[in-house]
Order: sequence, then structure tokens, then C-alpha cells
Amino acid sequence: EKGGYDYFMLKEIAEQPKAVADTLLGRIDAAGELRLDEVRIPDSVLREIEKVVIVACGTAFHAGMIAKYAIEHWTRIPCETELASEFRYRDPIMDSRTLVIAISQSGETMDTLMALRHAREQGAKVLAICNTNGSTIPRESDAVLYTHAGPEVAVASTKAFLTQLVACYLVALYLGQVRGTKWGDEVLAVIKELSAMGTHVEEVLTTMEPVRELARGLADKNTVLFLGRHVGYPVAMEGALKLKELAYMHAEGFAAGELKHGPIALIEEDLPVVVVVPSPRGRSVLHDKIVSNIQEIRARGARTIVIAEEGDATVRPYADHLIEIPQTPTLLQPLVATVPLQVFACELATARGNEVDQPRNLAKSVTVE
Ligand code: M6R
Repeated sequence: EKGGYDYFMLKEIAEQPKAVADTLLGRIDAAGELRLDEVRIPDSVLREIEKVVIVACGTAFHAGMIAKYAIEHWTRIPCETELASEFRYRDPIMDSRTLVIAISQSGETMDTLMALRHAREQGAKVLAICNTNGSTIPRESDAVLYTHAGPEVAVASTKAFLTQLVACYLVALYLGQVRGTKWGDEVLAVIKELSAMGTHVEEVLTTMEPVRELARGLADKNTVLFLGRHVGYPVAMEGALKLKELAYMHAEGFAAGELKHGPIALIEEDLPVVVVVPSPRGRSVLHDKIVSNIQEIRARGARTIVIAEEGDATVRPYADHLIEIPQTPTLLQPLVATVPLQVFACELATARGNEVDQPRNLAKSVTVE
């Protein structure tokens, strides 16, 4: 059932182009508008929403962090993303004009379930983004948008994450469509680009051999750091989480702007630091800032592993290893930037002799609080 792959994780990484395409299927009409009829929350209610709160755990939380950037940019509705386990116990403020989005691959994660129960008790509307038909989280929500990743067997989440991102983009764009906010050329262009993302993920997968080779060369390291800005920040956190759970290595994802507030003290000779670089097109301030972060860490001897857009010449001189990804709009970049980090962690785990599909101490779905 592993389809010729050594591990389910490798199979699931390879299935990502299809998972992304399947999650979009039937949800964009011929005119380029979104059709999310399955979301049974009436448009009249969605128009009145004053705040969006996203709750999730682990990898699904990282998808939710990325969704915050998309929702606020495309809809101008204030959005916060919180770990489900923290949200529930701080007496959060919600009412019937709050839309709570609970993201969960399994639909059985107890922390997320408790958070959504609490939200509904306060009168909030709950939309689940879930990969498992008929599981508890969608059953207890007001509405559900299913991700179509197919069954995910490996404990480390890969294809479910990419489809959670797609679902989040769809919800963000749909909210924009319903409310008429910023509904113009930019958003229509993004919907078009979103349709092409499956193909871009496929392109990334064909260029992963140097990433595997790099990973094998780092098998005896103790620590890897990950840096990003904007949507690259949650991508960095996801890269670090994959490495912790699979390679049992110390890994941390930072917002690159925080470097000078402490973490830069960790930089030492030959320390591998992965940097996720945003597109030089569009928000160029972001790009310039991260290029100077790369210079700073390299000047202190770090070994820089740079994930950047094809054709981004400015980063080349500072990259000890350059991993190129296709050009995409900034907000969609996580769909392609995460893939090399999944491959990197999987290969490092293999090189260290770890059990890839069943990391120690972990369960696929965490049904206790
Ligand atoms: O089933 P869920 O999406 O609710 O699971 C949430 C986390 O437990 C899960 O993403 C976990 O962090 C993964 N093992 C990460 O690869």
C-alpha cells in the first residue's frame, strides 16, 4: 500500500500536487468565482462577522498562522490564530459575530475539539477545516470545508498541511467575495494563481535530489535553525517541527526580525540555518530585510541554506546552499516553500536511522488533552 515508496511519508509528499488540485476541484467556477455551497453558514451571517479566530494544534496551527495573513489582507477582518490548548483556558472573548475556524486533519484532536466546544457555548459560529469525513470536529461544528488530501498515514503531516492551506485560502477569498472587500483584480488574479499551485508543487518535487544530499550531509548535527518573515515565519516553524518529530534534532523556527532580540547569540561556526526568502517582486521591503538577515548570520559563520524564488539573484552570494522554488504570489508561497523542508526532514530522519512513519512517543491523532 506504500505504492513502491519506502515510507508512507514519501508517498504522501509525492501525492501533494494531486491533493492540492483535488482540494480546489469544483470550488472555482468558470468565471473564476468561488463556490463553497457546502459551507452552510449563510452569506448574511458571514457578512456580519467582525472577527475570525483560528484554533488548531501542531502543523494545523502553522496552516492557521498563514491563514491569518491571507484573511486580514484579502478581507480586512481582524483575525487571530491561537493554539487550541491555550485558547480554551484563557477565557477568550467571542460572540455571534465571531467566526471560529478549527483546523484538524484527523478531526479527533481533543485540544481542538475542546476549543470549538467552548467557542460554540459562547455563541460563535464554528467552521471546521478537516480531512476526515464524519469525524468528531466537523460533526460538532456549524459547517465544514473538507480538505481532499485522502488518508494520511504517516504521523508527520505533509499533504494534509498543503490542503489545509488551500482550504484556508479558499475561505479567505470566499469571505472577500461575500463581503465585497478588495474584490477586484488582485483577488481574481490570486484565484487563477491558486489553480496553478498543484503544478508548481509538482515542479518543486522534481528538484529535490540536492536537498536530500544536503540533508544526508547534516546527519551528525545537533541543531538546525529556521528563519522566515511574514508567511515565511510559519513555514520556518513547520520546517522546525518536522525536524524535531522525525530527526529528533533540536530545531527552532524564528521570525527573522527577532534574530537581533536574542537568537542571534546562538549563531556559531557551521551552524545550519535555513532561511525562507519571500518573493523579491511585490513586497520588496520584506525581501530586502531578510537578505540583510542572511548577511548577518553568514558573517557570524552560519551555514546558510536559502529557499528562494527562481531568478532571485540577490540572495545567491550569501547562500551556501540555494534551494529554488517557483515564482508565486507572496501569500501562496508556503505551498511551495514547505515541500523542501518536508523532504529535508524525511531524509535526515532516514540518515539517522529513525523510524520515519512512526516517530517515537507520537501518535497520529492526539485524542487526549
Ligand atoms: O489531526 P490534527 O490536524 O488535529 O493534528 C494536529 C497535530 O497533532 C498534528 O498536526 C501534528 O503536529 C503532526 N504530527 C505534525 O506533523
